[in-house]
Amino acid sequence: MSDSIYPVPAEWARRARVDAAGYERLHGLSLADPGSFWLEQARRLDWIKRPEIAGDWSFDEADFHIQWFADGKLNVAANCIDRHLASRGGDTAIIWEPDDPAEAPRSYTYLQLYEEVCRFANVLKAQGVQKGDRVTVYMPMIPEAAFAILACARIGAIHSVVFGGFSPEALAGRITDCDSSVVITADEGRRGGKKVPLKTNVDAAAAHAPALEKVIVVKATGGDVPMQPGRDIWYHEAAAGEPADCPPVAMGAEDPLFILYTSGSTGKPKGVLHSSGGYLLWASLTHALTFDYRPGQVYWCAADIGWVTGHSYIVYGPLANGATTLMFEGVPNWPSAARIWEVVDRHKVEILYTAPTALRALMREGDAHVTRTSRKSLRLLGTVGEPINPEAWRWYHEVVGEGRCPIVDTWWQTETGGHMITPLPGAMALKPGSATLPFPGVDPQIVDADGRVLHGATEGNLVIARSWPGQMRTVWGDHARFFQTYFSTYPGKYFTGDGCRRDADGYYWITGRVDDVINVSGHRMGTAEVESALVLHPKVAEAAVVGMPHDIKGQGIYAYVTLNAGCTGDEALRAELVKWVRTEIGPIATPDAIQFAPGLPKTRSGKIMRRILRKIAEGDVTSLGDTSTLADPAVVDDLVANRVG
Ligand code: WT7
Repeated sequence: MSDSIYPVPAEWARRARVDAAGYERLHGLSLADPGSFWLEQARRLDWIKRPEIAGDWSFDEADFHIQWFADGKLNVAANCIDRHLASRGGDTAIIWEPDDPAEAPRSYTYLQLYEEVCRFANVLKAQGVQKGDRVTVYMPMIPEAAFAILACARIGAIHSVVFGGFSPEALAGRITDCDSSVVITADEGRRGGKKVPLKTNVDAAAAHAPALEKVIVVKATGGDVPMQPGRDIWYHEAAAGEPADCPPVAMGAEDPLFILYTSGSTGKPKGVLHSSGGYLLWASLTHALTFDYRPGQVYWCAADIGWVTGHSYIVYGPLANGATTLMFEGVPNWPSAARIWEVVDRHKVEILYTAPTALRALMREGDAHVTRTSRKSLRLLGTVGEPINPEAWRWYHEVVGEGRCPIVDTWWQTETGGHMITPLPGAMALKPGSATLPFPGVDPQIVDADGRVLHGATEGNLVIARSWPGQMRTVWGDHARFFQTYFSTYPGKYFTGDGCRRDADGYYWITGRVDDVINVSGHRMGTAEVESALVLHPKVAEAAVVGMPHDIKGQGIYAYVTLNAGCTGDEALRAELVKWVRTEIGPIATPDAIQFAPGLPKTRSGKIMRRILRKIAEGDVTSLGDTSTLADPAVVDDLVANRVG
């Protein structure tokens, strides 16, 4: 923890949209009179029918419901495109930076974006896609990925983007869960000079996804991919005859905009469902205030569109605000560790938003990669996805930003739709490692294990005591699971799954997950998911997975594996299991350590004591706590003696 304070730079306090007094006023109003506050804020969107009611919600089991602006009608794509045409149709909407820096970047004006999205929407319509249908998007980071999701929004189809790094198995599960008959993909993706066989993965997924009927394939690399007649359609061929005009469908504010699968502490990934009106308002308002965005500035969120960060802060938030948003196909360390800074210089990026894991990886490569670039266009830096260690924060601030750029450390989740606890750069003094204070409308509380609200400087579990417009509305196909997961632990409150400390200045410091979710390079991974993958292997009897500290990734994956009788845990099997998990889930689930264990520490009722496994994985073997309730305390000695790493 760090106690140093970085005050708001004078020109930020003077020029920013929101200064310290403005923040106090906005946050106060948002909680004192949420109805008028949110109806006023809703004016930043272009409504087909302006709403007259704001929030209508209850987190209580008997009357559980969440609605915002329920009587309003709008179209999300029209908000992101059409309404800008009159005033800034010629302004750049999207700048695309390809994987290979030797290739030319591409850019699209708002007018060009309009035409691309309309044409894409017409292709979807021609394939029979209608309002409410689910469309799976499994794409590389190319502009067509943004066109595809905006095309869905234009015709009221619900998109479900699946990160291109997920395996065919994982893709098939997501296609099946939301019963999606159409997949949009590309021949291949490219990342760091390597090809990603997206179409081939879709072909493999199709075998386990009976709902799938049509595959629309964008030609991205020109790689040779087999096309299945009757099922597969080349996008460029289908688009050739389509007009560049398509009327936007009027959607209710509560109509679903998208599903995005995310990992939880138990079971399969959940389909987080977001609304049209409340979500877009949240993405737009947070993008405008947190980044103090001004039209004309080049803004870059270096996430992938496969995660919620890409949805809210590459596409929906920035485009709703008429911004110029940069989309990057590549990776931070290819061809060299200077790539991010070279892209910043090439496109004169003013606002850069990235993850602590990328910063830690680049920091290790030495300052020279940074200092040989100019970076003088940068005025604001942001981070997201995991707690940022003060050392990486200072490096970002001093070396990257040369001390002149505030850093917004934004805490939020797939479920929240957008920023929840975050600095506003003209309003909050910064403390490295703290996400500072709640965004207007957000009412965080810290509670103890029994749900008692803790006041003042304290530490406990983070809950949100009231609804906000960007909140998810349900788990696709399982509303009971939605309630159970988020509202049953602390009745009447949304439980975030995060631990949190609040200091004497009221600043919030997220301490990490308190459930069985681990955060690997800013990506969420359910330990249960990795365990399920491991036990599918014929030699594995049982598996328990926990997080372990990792210098670059934040957390790594540590797996304890018990083998079936007669099987030997050697290096070959270790390598095989690593490969197995990568095939089942994808490379982001690659175990960092596998320990073969003759037994796992269990209570007499058979429950695995994860607390002990976490301590051993962390290397903290001197304070294992009480092990006397274990069925067989001796297994702990074996685990400690054979710790990996
Ligand atoms: C979890 C949500 C938010 C979009 C990307 C990840 C952790 C996120 C921060 C931050 C500390 C953070 C939390 C949260 N997290 N941002 N600024 N400081 N922790 O979305 O995959 O839904 O993961 O990421 O643990 O619960 P996600």
